[in-house]
Amino acid sequence: MKKTTRVNHPPLIELPAGNHPLVAPIYQTVKFEFDSVAQTEAHLRGERPGFYYSRAANPTTRQLELLLAELQGREDCLVTASGVGAIAQTLLALTKQGDHVICFVETYNPTRYLIRRLLGRFGVTHTLLSIEDLAGVERVLASHPTRLVFFESPTNPVTKIADIGALTRLARAAGAITVMDNTFAGFHQHGAFEVDVFVHSLTKYASGCGDVMGGAVIARAELIRAMRTDFGALGGTLDPHAAFLILRGLKTYFVRYAAQSASALRVAQLLAAHAAVARVHYPGLPTHPQHALAGRQMQDFGTIVSFDLKGGAAAARRFADSLELFALAASLGSTESLVVTPPMMGGRELDAEQQRISAITDGTVRLSIGLEETDDLLGDLTRALAAAGH
Ligand SMILES: Cc1ncc(COP(=O)(O)O)c(C=O)c1O
Repeated sequence: MKKTTRVNHPPLIELPAGNHPLVAPIYQTVKFEFDSVAQTEAHLRGERPGFYYSRAANPTTRQLELLLAELQGREDCLVTASGVGAIAQTLLALTKQGDHVICFVETYNPTRYLIRRLLGRFGVTHTLLSIEDLAGVERVLASHPTRLVFFESPTNPVTKIADIGALTRLARAAGAITVMDNTFAGFHQHGAFEVDVFVHSLTKYASGCGDVMGGAVIARAELIRAMRTDFGALGGTLDPHAAFLILRGLKTYFVRYAAQSASALRVAQLLAAHAAVARVHYPGLPTHPQHALAGRQMQDFGTIVSFDLKGGAAAARRFADSLELFALAASLGSTESLVVTPPMMGGRELDAEQQRISAITDGTVRLSIGLEETDDLLGDLTRALAAAGH
């Protein structure tokens, strides 16, 4: 064999029986081979287990899928190249022309865009309500046959809490599927509710380090089976190396989430006591209008704290520019603290009533609390609040 051939057929290293790595290898391969045509054909007929092509399945991404399904308390999972990819592919896989979807003003902007523009182009209609309007949900379910109800909790950025038990009961009674974007709450929360499909951005808490993107769809086996072929065909597959980084991030997920949530509560308390602040949105504060509901649904109140500065847009800009430890950047849930101001929050297509429901004012600021020392964050915030004035 010439070396030009050999580099394309390097020596195989097979581990002896009873010898395992503590960290699984990254299966950075597109293709998998069986020993014969007969074996390959048997696999393609579904009669022989194994892997064939990484867009459909790969051992590294599969390990991540099985772990996430277990963390969220469901049977199966499909991972995707981003959180938005998970949402888009779920919407496309679960709806068809003529279907109707309920979603909410407080839902993540790109999700609303996908439902309004993308599904709208394929003849799927929708109704946009407030997440607080359970009577509206009941009324719309009674008047429109509805395929799915898409919601999130806590909502982005003002951390409204959805009444998950009520929403899932109403949807189930009307024969609608519930899809919950559980990115803010994380994999350890909300699993006991009768949500049919959870979607997550793995870009946030799963990796935690802000260096990789991914998404996940987690549900009972029958629903995942129904979506699997469409997901393969839509092609938004997670790369095995990204899956490896996310698996690595998950090792510290629980300690990160708990520590960042504890810091977030202290940040919320500091803000609530400050003269420059008109209102704080954090479900862990007793002053949050849905604190009791959040307490019944959640173990941790999360790492996102939003608040309204009395000084409006100019104060929000001065505040964000004055922070030193908070990066002025999108995303959330990573180890470094982040800040965004209203122009970075989207929602410009909402009408005046919907803007009111969204509760985003000119002076709203969203913080994502990282893993820095809490006292350092409090010091930075105190300095920036003084600079913002009131
Ligand atoms: C609630 C929520 N869902 C989904 C996403 C989308 O995730 P990704 O950026 O991985 O596409 C985000 C991103 O900010 C988010 O906040």
